[in-house]
Amino acid sequence: MTEKNTAPAIDPGRPTENLRVTSIRRRPAIRIQVNGRSIEATPGETVLAALTAAGFKVLKKSNVRGEARGPFCGMGVCYECLVTINGVPKQRSCMTEVEDNMEIQTYEPPPD
Ligand code: FES
Repeated sequence: MTEKNTAPAIDPGRPTENLRVTSIRRRPAIRIQVNGRSIEATPGETVLAALTAAGFKVLKKSNVRGEARGPFCGMGVCYECLVTINGVPKQRSCMTEVEDNMEIQTYEPPPD
């Protein structure tokens, strides 16, 4: 049995203002410590979101060849986003919500 697509067709000539988010209310920012550096985060976001917003791309080294690794799935499946949070190693940053004064340790590659 085939289902009929009932989604409205997108008309490239039609204005899309009605599809835009007009306002976002964010709670006041909090601070987290990453590798000893204080960065800003938004309550409710994941550690991964805060790290990504701050420019972190490499979060760990591979166990096999020691290669730099970064997040892949963003939903708790790949385990490529493991960091140390408040002294507890191997926490999935994409599945952990930020908390004020949280201490996070990532692998930092040596400078070029
Ligand atoms: S990014 Fe895949 S488990 Fe976190």
